[in-house]
Amino acid sequence: MFLDCGRKPTHVQGEHKKVTLYLLFCVSTAVIGSLQFGYNTGVINAPEQKLRGFFQNVSMERYGEPFSPGTNTMVWSFAVAIFSVGGMIGSFSVGTMVNTFGRRKSMLLSNILALVGGGLMGLSTLSQSFEMVIVGRLVIGVFCGLCTGLTPMYVGEISPTAVRGAFGTLHQLGVVIGILVAQIFGLEFLLGSDSLWPLLLALTVVPAILQSIMLPFCPESPRYLLIVLNQEEEARKALVRLRGSEDVNDDIQEMKEEGMKMALEKKVTVLEIFRSRNYRQPIIIAIILQLSQQLSGINAVFYYSTGIFDTAGVTQPIYATIGAGVVNTVFTVVSLFLVERAGRRTLHLIGLAGMAICALIMTISLSLKATPSLSYLAIVGVFGFVASFEMGPGPIPWFIVAELFSQGPRPAAMAISGCSNWTANFLVGLGFPKLEELCGPYVFLIFMVLLILFFIFTYLRVPETKGRTFDDIAQGFAASAGKSSPSAAPESVMVPLPDGKEPAPMSP
Ligand code: GLC
Repeated sequence: MFLDCGRKPTHVQGEHKKVTLYLLFCVSTAVIGSLQFGYNTGVINAPEQKLRGFFQNVSMERYGEPFSPGTNTMVWSFAVAIFSVGGMIGSFSVGTMVNTFGRRKSMLLSNILALVGGGLMGLSTLSQSFEMVIVGRLVIGVFCGLCTGLTPMYVGEISPTAVRGAFGTLHQLGVVIGILVAQIFGLEFLLGSDSLWPLLLALTVVPAILQSIMLPFCPESPRYLLIVLNQEEEARKALVRLRGSEDVNDDIQEMKEEGMKMALEKKVTVLEIFRSRNYRQPIIIAIILQLSQQLSGINAVFYYSTGIFDTAGVTQPIYATIGAGVVNTVFTVVSLFLVERAGRRTLHLIGLAGMAICALIMTISLSLKATPSLSYLAIVGVFGFVASFEMGPGPIPWFIVAELFSQGPRPAAMAISGCSNWTANFLVGLGFPKLEELCGPYVFLIFMVLLILFFIFTYLRVPETKGRTFDDIAQGFAASAGKSSPSAAPESVMVPLPDGKEPAPMSP
């Protein structure tokens, strides 16, 4: 059954549609964090052989002999996988960080990690230390984990309701552009050469510096100022600049209403999110949507597409891979324009269904022996898979979490869901080569089955959030939690008690 939110949604489509240049500036500043996440995700693939060569050099210099192939692969895999471990740590710290420093200062502080991580990797050859690459990747992973929470949170909070989805999709656009830039810069004749790869890895410090210069010109999130810090005047000032209008009373009013309801639950901890009946449903949805993104197998394609094309008989696999990067970017833009029309739920469903069909096409093309005449099937399969991903499962899980929760529980919810995403990313990255070994050309059937299960879940459980205020969405969940409770009146709104005990009913 589709989640019945128990009350009529407050549609605000058409209101506050004005997108000012200043708002665009602030969103662009935040989205530099998304670009960083994409760049650092994609950057490690191209220079694999150079890095492996460097590890051998270090071993020769230190121990007088090269690493054994097994040790070299271990050091390499470690350098790759530790990035996701950092991501788990970073994404999990988002809640504590924004509650302590606020949104803007957290973004500013996180850039220190980019400088440290980029610096370590950039200087690794000079210091003849492969450990610096590994520690650098860990630090950059923590930084990127923070980015995947901080950017969607800030963007979601400063955006007018009517364009919140489109702006939320900009996070994913930043990610895919970052991946593409990394793929292109990583080409051997650019920065992927023997001598320049440390610069390729260190380049992440440039956007970090740029964002640090731009952030002081952006306001702190007005929702944070008003609802958390209770600074109405400051919030009003920020809103006037963002909306380009003196009349921000509607926004202030909406935040105040949300703030009043949140007054009792200012700090919601990770444990309380699971304990409270109000949050159980949205947190399960948030986690499963994040899992649907990663367990769709997207990164199996991104990390190993060249091999897939090769197996399927494509003659120039590297160009097909860059083609996949371009399709990836183009379809994120398509989603950007559709998300406020078609809605999040519909696009997510279309994307999952498209991916499942394309996983089947890929399986067919991989199971038929490599025949150049059929290689187009692999290209259609992979391009379709990536395009479908960017329609929904790519962008939506990142920003919908900020929409499913109100101000109080949002930081903890972002931490939990972000960490689930990074953990699943880690598992797919680590497990895919082994799965491929075990299942051969049928490996994508596993993802197809998972995609079908995620489709069913989304169809049954995920509500539409398009055009609804944060407060309205939260109340929808509260009302439906209330409905399933025999002790609560059907239309009552559940307000959790500050100590995290079961929520108490309150009139809407
Ligand atoms: C999403 C995923 C990321 C993936 C990217 C591909 O942002 O979180 O893991 O690499 O999309 O476009």
